[in-house]
Amino acid sequence: MSTTHFGFESVEEQEKARRVRGVFDAVAPRYDLMNDLMSVGLHRAWKAYTVMVANPRPGQQVLDIAGGTGDLALAFAKKVGPTGRVVHTDINEAMLRTGRDRLLDAGVVLPTLVCDAEQLPFADAQFDCVSVAFGLRNMTHKERALAEMCRVLKPRGKLLVLEFSKVAQPLEKLYDWYSFQVLPRLGKWVAGDEASYRYLAESIRMHPGQEELKALMQQNGFGHVDYHNLTGGIVALHVGIKC
Ligand SMILES: C[S@@+](CC[C@H](N)C(=O)[O-])C[C@H]1O[C@@H](n2cnc3c(N)ncnc32)[C@H](O)[C@@H]1O
Repeated sequence: MSTTHFGFESVEEQEKARRVRGVFDAVAPRYDLMNDLMSVGLHRAWKAYTVMVANPRPGQQVLDIAGGTGDLALAFAKKVGPTGRVVHTDINEAMLRTGRDRLLDAGVVLPTLVCDAEQLPFADAQFDCVSVAFGLRNMTHKERALAEMCRVLKPRGKLLVLEFSKVAQPLEKLYDWYSFQVLPRLGKWVAGDEASYRYLAESIRMHPGQEELKALMQQNGFGHVDYHNLTGGIVALHVGIKC
């Protein structure tokens, strides 16, 4: 059995998937509130930027992977309109249910599917655009997931990977203090869950940096890859074109 990392711990691969599920089962009810608090609302700007760069047109087909509580799916649905289609997916039922309820409250009904990004249940070349926001970091075999995202994209289709990345050097100390001192405490006070937010900080440190992720995308089918650093590299948006 191969091992991988869960935050800073080395665990068996199946154990990682089980623990990631545990984290998102635990955080689902307070996920949106915590997102706003932890990022002081910045996640909304990062997602709005992602939608702007994706630039989906009316009538297009969009797949949102690891879509969680549905921020991107909702924004994309407004862009593609009634002639387009946005499929909202996640491996975690609790996150997806929370998202589906939010979308229904907003008057939006989307196809919603529990599925693993590493084995997508879609035929080849179906989507104009695929997105994954803050999800890739949690996947056990990132290369498999990226290859699957490439497979389901149409030729010239666009993948958007919004993810925490390697922060600019002058920000490092402050960011480390915030990640390891403030975040877990915030998780404890607001969501009654310190461990999940410690995992968040650790998993960010274990995720490939900007150039490494670019190379991984190129190795898994994306002929053209570019990235945009946001907020000093706290987050990066990687854009891959299937060509
Ligand atoms: C931090 S949340 C991001 C949710 C949403 N995209 C957002 O930006 O707010 C990460 C999501 O990745 C999902 N996830 C983790 N591993 C996955 C996998 N192998 N396939 C699909 N989704 C996965 C989790 O269930 C969780 O909902």
